[in-house]
Amino acid sequence: MNDAEQIVVKKGDSIELEIESLAFGGKGVAKVEGLAIFVERVIPGQKVLARIVKKKKSYAEAYPLEVLRKAPNEIEAKCPAFGTCGGCRIQNLEYTDQLFEKTRQVRDLIQRVGGFSDFEVPAALPSPEAFHYRNKMEFTFTSTPWRNHPDDEDQPFGLGQHIPGRFDKIVHLETCYLQKPVMNDIMNFVFAFGQEHKWEAYNNKTHAGWARNLVLRYGEHTDEIMVNLVTKTYEKEHMQVFKQAIMSAFPQITTLINSINTRLSDTAIGESEVILHGPGHIRDRLGDSEFEISASSFFQTNTRQAETLYAEALKAAGLQGGEVVYDLYCGTGTIALFLAKQAKKVYGFELIASSIKNARRNAKAQGFDNVEFILGDLKDVLSQNVDRIEAADVIVVDPPRAGLHQNVVDDILKVGPKRLVYVSCNPSTLARDLKLFCATDYELVSVQPVDMFPHTTHIETVAQLKRIRKG
Ligand SMILES: C[S@@+](CC[C@H](N)C(=O)[O-])C[C@H]1O[C@@H](n2cnc3c(N)ncnc32)[C@H](O)[C@@H]1O
Repeated sequence: MNDAEQIVVKKGDSIELEIESLAFGGKGVAKVEGLAIFVERVIPGQKVLARIVKKKKSYAEAYPLEVLRKAPNEIEAKCPAFGTCGGCRIQNLEYTDQLFEKTRQVRDLIQRVGGFSDFEVPAALPSPEAFHYRNKMEFTFTSTPWRNHPDDEDQPFGLGQHIPGRFDKIVHLETCYLQKPVMNDIMNFVFAFGQEHKWEAYNNKTHAGWARNLVLRYGEHTDEIMVNLVTKTYEKEHMQVFKQAIMSAFPQITTLINSINTRLSDTAIGESEVILHGPGHIRDRLGDSEFEISASSFFQTNTRQAETLYAEALKAAGLQGGEVVYDLYCGTGTIALFLAKQAKKVYGFELIASSIKNARRNAKAQGFDNVEFILGDLKDVLSQNVDRIEAADVIVVDPPRAGLHQNVVDDILKVGPKRLVYVSCNPSTLARDLKLFCATDYELVSVQPVDMFPHTTHIETVAQLKRIRKG
């Protein structure tokens, strides 16, 4: 560390900062003599008094103590839990300003991390609905709900969302504006039932307690509703009482599940499921394709905007009708079936067995005979199958936030499709992976951000690459 760096700021300093932009992950960025300072829970345009909590060679991190001046475009957040709940981090920005910031983030990462220095990124495509757009929400039970105010009384039971950065702290919610109003009614009913029947909330430090999560899913085009209560054990008699109560209050629930999770890890997916009512899945449509979605399957959470996302992916795939396509990380086969209408053959690859099962059923129900779904971990399963199946003209990837495993990058380069479509939920790993492909065999053609998650700092992106050299 040189002297100049020491002078700028040091840990523990309280300092006034002008927030200039939002970095990937949602932290505000301020600059002090060229040093980037990342500040939690702020928006561009605000002036804040902040405490430096971390100082590294090339950046610092700060926590806001007080907002000294509001941003000119700052608005009143709709949700009373705003600022405490980890769900919506930028609800106090107009939606158009949120889109502007997200576009700027993607452009910055593509240019700076990806090394595509002058590459233009068009404005993010807006979600048709800015509220009530989520078709799935996961809530967590707690025996120590977060107190919003020091004078608030301690409560023994709560149901809500994690507060940012705290795996063990949950803020109780009565309304979540990201889900449909009926889902709020169901959430409040389950909370009141649990309170009345003295459910003991699972504690992820001591691992005592029983009630873990409530997962709600809604079929945007079908109005089907899934209620999935995640608990540590199956209590048969009590579940019958719960079933009767909730089904008589909400007869529109189409499936009721009790997932059992005995694992220590804080995940809302059960090791086993008891289906208390209905078929154990809901159905929803994307475009004119219908999908079966079970409790543990991945399905895009903003149904209407997923249709925009897939239309972008389809456009980038540039299919003429005779192509062989691989859909890597295919989930329940949604992209695969979108593409299959315009391709000769589509192979979908996916890790989760229940998603593959849903994908096969979805394909069969819709009469597709040109799709095949292959189960396995993509770091191995692509190379294991590549000699058996037809070579791909186009590959579409839609990995989780960590991006592509190096084996997957290597395997794609070996297959060498003419076009590669990268659907990403993390522009940072997207930029890293695009750089790998474009170091040798591919060129970047287009990058289109699509906003699937208004009021959060997440952004989806579709990138198109074209092969320029057979590696
Ligand atoms: C972002 S989702 C995309 C799903 C699908 N394309 C869609 O739009 O609904 C990522 C998917 O990758 C799957 N996945 C995660 N890690 C994987 C791995 N190592 N190998 C294969 N699939 C994996 C997940 O189960 C999930 O279904």
